Amino acid sequence: MDHPKLEALDRAAVAAALGGLAAAFSVEVLPECDSTNSRLLADPPPDDGRIPVLAADRQTAGRGRRGRVWQSWPGAGLTFSVLWRFAPGAPLPGGLSLVVGLAVARALEELGVEGVQLKWPNDVLVNGHKIAGILIELVSGRGQPLAAVIGVGINLRLPPEAAIESPLGVTDLARCLDATPPASRLLGLVLAQLHHFLGICAAAGFESLRGAWQQRNAFAELPVRILGEAEPLAGICAGVDADGALLLQTPDGLRRVLSGDVSLRAG
Ligand code: BTN
Repeated sequence: MDHPKLEALDRAAVAAALGGLAAAFSVEVLPECDSTNSRLLADPPPDDGRIPVLAADRQTAGRGRRGRVWQSWPGAGLTFSVLWRFAPGAPLPGGLSLVVGLAVARALEELGVEGVQLKWPNDVLVNGHKIAGILIELVSGRGQPLAAVIGVGINLRLPPEAAIESPLGVTDLARCLDATPPASRLLGLVLAQLHHFLGICAAAGFESLRGAWQQRNAFAELPVRILGEAEPLAGICAGVDADGALLLQTPDGLRRVLSGDVSLRAG
């Protein structure tokens, strides 16, 4: 195993990994910030036609879903956010968080990671353990969705003292590959995949990516419970529909679960 000290993020290396797509993004890299999502939400850059990306080597107040904290240690993870603007008047694309999960999964697969799966609505797993999390926050104006801040955290090499609460346990890239890739390269690969999949979703809807998501569904046909609703809901995971809602086969019939503030657990 070859795991030298992880290098700090570097814009030129991100651009090199993006290749011909580099001009589509404006990437800013900070050694430290509170939360890349919070920063982009508070101070979105003016629209110059490029897709703004803010990445930080370390976050001091990283946020996860459902009010949780996303912890960070120097060199332990890749943390970044993308400001994705919607076409004027366009509805909120269904399945957005699922598409982002798919992009992260494909970038990890490109690096040679095996056993990548997706847990609805937006966790990325390797061999059943969480390797990446996604936090999407919407920017609205006059009741219209204008943009989404898409925050992604990927575990690169967690320190031994990391005690992260996660129902499935956690893993990192160092455990999946013989050599841990530089964070900048991984960022470039994820951005390229996001560009690809969000472009498909904008043109043809989530429906066209549903099969690719379901192929990686970690809980396909397995008993699951949904927490976060007034009453926990139990059933068999029957995949997702064309809007990215989870389909649950329950004793009362097929139920559709929207991805608000809910969590899925093995049943
Ligand atoms: C989760 O699994 O609960 C979602 C975690 C999302 C973490 C990322 S790290 C970059 C961005 N900035 C944040 O504060 N959170 C997201």
